[in-house]
Amino acid sequence: MLDQAEGYTTADGRKIGPVVMEMKNITLRFGGVEAIKDISFDIRQGEIRAIIGPNGAGKSSMLNVISGFYVPQDGQVFYQGALRPPMKPFQVARQGIARTFQNIALFEGMTVLDNVMTGRLTHMETGLFWQSMWKGKAEAEETANREVAERIIDFLEIQAIRKTPVARLPYGLKKRVELARALAAEPSLLLLDEPMAGMNVEEKEDMSRFILDVNDEFGTTIALIEHDMGVVMDLSDRVVVMDYGKKIGDGTPDEVRGNQAVIDAYLGVAHD
Ligand SMILES: Nc1ncnc2c1ncn2[C@@H]1O[C@H](COP(=O)(O)OP(=O)(O)O)[C@@H](O)[C@H]1O
Ligand SMILES: [Mg+2]
Repeated sequence: MLDQAEGYTTADGRKIGPVVMEMKNITLRFGGVEAIKDISFDIRQGEIRAIIGPNGAGKSSMLNVISGFYVPQDGQVFYQGALRPPMKPFQVARQGIARTFQNIALFEGMTVLDNVMTGRLTHMETGLFWQSMWKGKAEAEETANREVAERIIDFLEIQAIRKTPVARLPYGLKKRVELARALAAEPSLLLLDEPMAGMNVEEKEDMSRFILDVNDEFGTTIALIEHDMGVVMDLSDRVVVMDYGKKIGDGTPDEVRGNQAVIDAYLGVAHD
């Protein structure tokens, strides 16, 4: 099914392309704690790739390596065919990678629209110097950025709250605003750390639909961490399973579901 060079076609007929991100033998330590132990996996163009595993497995750490927030002690990250040297998160963002956080990180006092506009920061070229010298360029840029932000707000169906301060929103909507901000960066790779954690069933269904729509409409490659096995099975094309910093499974949802090491890890959690 998997043609390493070219990609593959999903059961629902979507075309998955070549590898865009390759993690090779990644090891990450915090003092004596090995959060990631010699893990390799790849992410393909257009894919929805899930990272799952019990609490403390190292999932968020892995997403933080992909986003450049952590630099691993060992291993290499290849992005779009090239070895990526250690980079600052803003440099990684400029390469087209955007993310949301496990714990919502929005500006609570600012409106939804202004929060989404902050997602455009990596695209703003006009510095203060040009803003003072050439007002027209700054204004044109502001207008273009606002148009992108408004388009994303429409897409995620949050027009009605665009002027509402984020602090007043219920949890599920805050998660959607965070997704909107990440999308405003027009990423080619979108990283979502537990986008559905703490949501009720209806909110989870909405978020699942938006994730699928983003992938479908913009062709965005998505790597997401999720706890709910049902959601993972419905959403993702391929799944990496982590446990105690190790990779214990990698494959389609069906392959992973039948993997004994995965079953054991999950039963361990379920019967805690
Ligand atoms: N900044 C940090 N400093 C020290 N230890 C950390 C840090 N971040 C994560 N860890 C440790 O690394 C391990 C993996 O954590 P994490 O990646 O958050 O797991 P997950 O997201 O799968 O729950 C845990 O043992 C955690 O305590
Ligand atoms: Mg986590």
